[in-house]
Amino acid sequence: MAVTVIVGGQWGDEGKGKVIDFLAEKAKMVVRFSGGDNAGHTVVNPHGKFRLHLIPSGIFYPQVTCIIGNGVAVNPSVLLEEIETLRRHHMDMSRLFISDRAHLIMPYHTLLDGLEEERRSKGALGTTRRGIGPVFADKVSRLGIRVGDLLHKDIFLSRLKSALEFKNDILTKVYQVPPLSLEEIYERYCHYGEQLAPFIRETSSVIHQAVTKGELVLLEGAQGTLLDPDFGTYPYVTSSSPLVGAGSVGAGIGPREINRAVGVFKAYITRVGGGPMPTELKDEIGELIREKAHEYGATTGRPRRCGWFDAVAGRFSSQINGFSDIALTHLDIYDDFPSIKICTAYKFNNRVLDSFPSDSSILEKCQPVYEQLSGWQGPTSEIRDFEKLPAGARNYIARLESLLSCPISFVSVGAKREQVVEVKLILSN
Ligand code: GDP
Ligand code: IMO
Ligand code: MG
Repeated sequence: MAVTVIVGGQWGDEGKGKVIDFLAEKAKMVVRFSGGDNAGHTVVNPHGKFRLHLIPSGIFYPQVTCIIGNGVAVNPSVLLEEIETLRRHHMDMSRLFISDRAHLIMPYHTLLDGLEEERRSKGALGTTRRGIGPVFADKVSRLGIRVGDLLHKDIFLSRLKSALEFKNDILTKVYQVPPLSLEEIYERYCHYGEQLAPFIRETSSVIHQAVTKGELVLLEGAQGTLLDPDFGTYPYVTSSSPLVGAGSVGAGIGPREINRAVGVFKAYITRVGGGPMPTELKDEIGELIREKAHEYGATTGRPRRCGWFDAVAGRFSSQINGFSDIALTHLDIYDDFPSIKICTAYKFNNRVLDSFPSDSSILEKCQPVYEQLSGWQGPTSEIRDFEKLPAGARNYIARLESLLSCPISFVSVGAKREQVVEVKLILSN
């Protein structure tokens, strides 16, 4: 039994791609289990620099089978482009499989995502406009079209016909924009289907086989815990669950098969899009973090909002995911900082809250209560042994461990694969 789930502990972009690209060296399989191409996972390794939106970050190892699980929403045009890019870099794509149960992002999903955002006007959520809300809404309202449908043109045509009839009514009558053409979408998606056919299959049984053999399987999360539709800052959330618990459903294996759950956290915190963020720094420190870490969205290029580490949100995230380990990234970004703050509680209406409120309108009004630690003012990017980290850095890590009540087993000190201080071997049982 060796299934490890790796998810974002904050608002996404914690460095999941980096961590998985490092850990996958020991794995036999990496499975993406949620989200869609709203995700952008950056991997910097000897093959180059890649921004993966759908293909699991384990694709760079020849022994790793990569699976796009049933919990993912697939935009076939984005996926084909990604396959092409990786082929150009000589990656063997015969190790990639796509679940026939994964839902397809259709042209009306991306169109409606944009129209819904414009309709919200000042209340816009700041989505990535990749069609994520609309595709997952269709999935649960049983109007979705799945990857497997592409293999049966007659079934695909009849599903597309009934969905498009309804969507065109919304487009023309609610949004007053021109309808989409059935023939055009049908032709285009049939062409995608022909190209994707060799990759499509029932994948939960493939994963089950690997699990039964005791092979190391990594489940790759997308987004971050605070964007979860249930536990995140609703309504400023995404539309599929990024939690450890969703790993089992989104890959199709029983929860009891999972034996490790790794939460990836940045040494600070970022958020892209709208919604409350108590520790946001709208000053030169926030600007400094953004420029030093190049905090611009991997999917949309938007500047990310930056702030001090929020341990109230972090503790909550650790609790609802049940992390066994934490992977802390971007420690190097603090290398020049004379002092560093951590938010340990919130103040709301003259009361101190030490738990994460479920209501975004309350979180919006929360003032962070900070604890200040001294920085280490020395380079960490070349360090690989925990003991060799400056005392201030070790102290910072220890404080986060204690605030989150979870061991930090992995520390990343740069974007490249090898820039890792592995504190403990997190993949050993
Ligand atoms: P993901 O969505 O969680 O995979 O994260 P992103 O790829 O969207 O954003 C993380 C960014 O930080 C990418 O540009 C990574 O190359 C980079 N990165 C990852 N880990 C580190 C680190 O420890 N230090 C620094 N400086 N950059 C890192
Ligand atoms: P990775 O996997 C950071 C955010 C969007 C927006 C909200 C809803 O790279 O960490 P959506 O398009 O999902 O309907 O947008 O969620 N968001 C992300 N933020 N990283 C991501 O993915 C994100 N995926 C979605 O910015 O606020
Ligand atoms: Mg990202």
